[in-house]
Amino acid sequence: MPTLPNPSQDARNSFYITTPIYYVNARPHLGHAYSTIVCDAVARRKRSQGIATWFLTGTDEHGQKIERSAKLAGKSPAEFATAISGEFRSLWDRMGLTYDDYIRTTEDRHKRGVQRLFAELHDRGFIYKGSYTGQYCVSDEAFVDVPPGAPCPDCGRITETISEENYFFKLSAFERKLLELYETHPEFVQPEARRNEVTAFVRSSLKDVSVSRTSVSWGVPVPGDEKHVIYVWFDALVNYITALGYGSDAPEDKARFEKFWPANVHLVGKEIIRFHCVYWPAFLMAAGLPLPKSVIANGWLLFDKTKMSKSVGNIVRAETVLEVLGADALRYFLLREISFGHDGNFTFEALVQRYNADLANGYGNLVSRVVNMVHRYFGGVLPETGPMGDAETSIQNDAGLTIVEFNTQFEAMDFSRALESLWALVAAVDGYLTASAPWKKPAEVSDEAHAKTQARVLATAAEAIRIITALVHPILPESTGKVWLQLGLGNIEEAAKRGDLKDLAWGGLRAGTSFAEPAPLFPRAEKDAIERMQSLESGNNLSAVAAVSGSSGEASSSPVISEATAPCSGSTEAPVHAPVSEPAVPAASALETTAAGSDAAREGIAQIGIEDFAKVELRVAQILVAERVPKADKLLRLEVDLGYEKRQILAGIAQYYEPEKLIGRKVVIVANLAPRKLRGLESNGMVVAASIGDHGAPVLAGFLEDVPIGARLK
Ligand code: MSP
Repeated sequence: MPTLPNPSQDARNSFYITTPIYYVNARPHLGHAYSTIVCDAVARRKRSQGIATWFLTGTDEHGQKIERSAKLAGKSPAEFATAISGEFRSLWDRMGLTYDDYIRTTEDRHKRGVQRLFAELHDRGFIYKGSYTGQYCVSDEAFVDVPPGAPCPDCGRITETISEENYFFKLSAFERKLLELYETHPEFVQPEARRNEVTAFVRSSLKDVSVSRTSVSWGVPVPGDEKHVIYVWFDALVNYITALGYGSDAPEDKARFEKFWPANVHLVGKEIIRFHCVYWPAFLMAAGLPLPKSVIANGWLLFDKTKMSKSVGNIVRAETVLEVLGADALRYFLLREISFGHDGNFTFEALVQRYNADLANGYGNLVSRVVNMVHRYFGGVLPETGPMGDAETSIQNDAGLTIVEFNTQFEAMDFSRALESLWALVAAVDGYLTASAPWKKPAEVSDEAHAKTQARVLATAAEAIRIITALVHPILPESTGKVWLQLGLGNIEEAAKRGDLKDLAWGGLRAGTSFAEPAPLFPRAEKDAIERMQSLESGNNLSAVAAVSGSSGEASSSPVISEATAPCSGSTEAPVHAPVSEPAVPAASALETTAAGSDAAREGIAQIGIEDFAKVELRVAQILVAERVPKADKLLRLEVDLGYEKRQILAGIAQYYEPEKLIGRKVVIVANLAPRKLRGLESNGMVVAASIGDHGAPVLAGFLEDVPIGARLK
């Protein structure tokens, strides 16, 4: 389990935590919300411990992926980025996330800092000019060391070949220093599995890396050589310091930088650990700047057992959960259900079940029972406890142990266990209340004696609730605010600022405190909650598909391309590898059926599972150019538009289709077929057609309704 560096060891008593900055190619989903919620909970806790805390989040807006997404949406990259960045920010605001700064990489303060660092590394001799010919994964914005046509080793998408002049950073010079860093400061990369992964990567020898691009224009210009833009990962990583004021000479910026750099925690998804634990510290070492204290990797949020991501089409939006169950329910579920550092599954069923069991019937019900009884039996004023019996002492001891456990587990980022420990206390107090039954007066007991029992039980339970509420405040900020008010303790945010939520000890709730009126905390979720969320989501996913597909009017109002639908293959500028259709056989046919539907045609064709079918990326494309290929009477050379890119396909349909009649026609293509050369020409994809009759005459697949280009068939 990762551990948070102990901020009390920091003489400055400051704590700086960052989320990754999110790409603006797609609207936020629960996967993004997860890392931001984790940082928010940690930041809230640090603040309530009296530690000067800075919590940064923001958006990563440059690069080829965004450039293409904007084009697909028919917007300028700047306009496009502003729209999606705004969506992230307003979602975080709606969720009440307490970021101290929101950086956008398109802001001047950032660009200035990026250029300053670049120039600094250049002046120090760590950046030199060269040229790069090799593969690039647009989706990951990464230079990848694989042969042409091979998929990206990280995301599995097809890479594209680029050949361009680049500036290089001398990463190779940092191999030894990085290995030393991991060894002497194991807390720098967490959890351990990620450290092993990063160490193995560096040990396998580091090559210098490109830090500029010339075939992309959406980025920060290289100072003094403006035909280059700075590589988007260099640009993005530097956000962690530009947001604090690096690159500015203003005294307040310098002071903030001094106060908060180096960061205590960069929280990042496990797939981007290499950029943060290899490139980033090397850039900082080269510039002579202090290194972050830790990079901590979270696992992925899975939906239907697959990483939640737009391209897979399995995303859930935070808004859906907010609308039906509220922000605290989402925060609680994500931190309780996922063992931090590992992947975790999201399902509506599990969410509703946890919500009802732990929040509605657990904590919420406990608070409402106690607050209601204090009103009913004591006019809303907390009575004196009187001498404690064994049962009360046991609750007090449980609470003491829980404080220690919860604090230790939270500091170790083991949120799930921390909540489990705390909910054991909720259950203990609930059991104590039920066993003591203060609402029942035994016949043999006098009114006076019974009132004393009631006072003791309710005061004990209320004090336990105060402790539970103070501990869980960073995770359930909204509802703990309501509970704090009901307990007559005022505003919990103010209490946190005063330090009332730290160093908790039994006995903080004084007799004579006036409770506020009870108010509902977590109304029970009824059966239809799941259906409501599902139907909200199906609406969302439908619009996501339309947005990805591009050419319709709808695309501009939902300007999105998914991570994976910004494929690595073929760009407008640099059409790439590959290819294919099957001109040598009678016709182009994706599914290789003959005499459609006949039993004979089906013989010998194995059944496949849906996961096999999902591997075939079928998309709608529009033919822009169609012409015959000299000396190949069966072949047509097509240029097709997929919305997010154009590509060349060779199709064996020349004997059946006049090229000029094909222009403008929408067809279905296999978009992820491995590239291939035919008659010296690259073919990148395959046109789908029915194969008719003995000669397999092709009939191109099409649609009766108008469909946007780029739309995926599934
Ligand atoms: N822009 C880069 C980060 C640059 S930081 C200097 C990037 N952006 S991203 O939008 O693709 O991802 C941002 C973060 O969201 C990553 O940490 C990623 O792991 C996280 N998530 C995206 N989908 C996720 C899940 N399904 N589950 C959990 N987190 C995931 O990478």
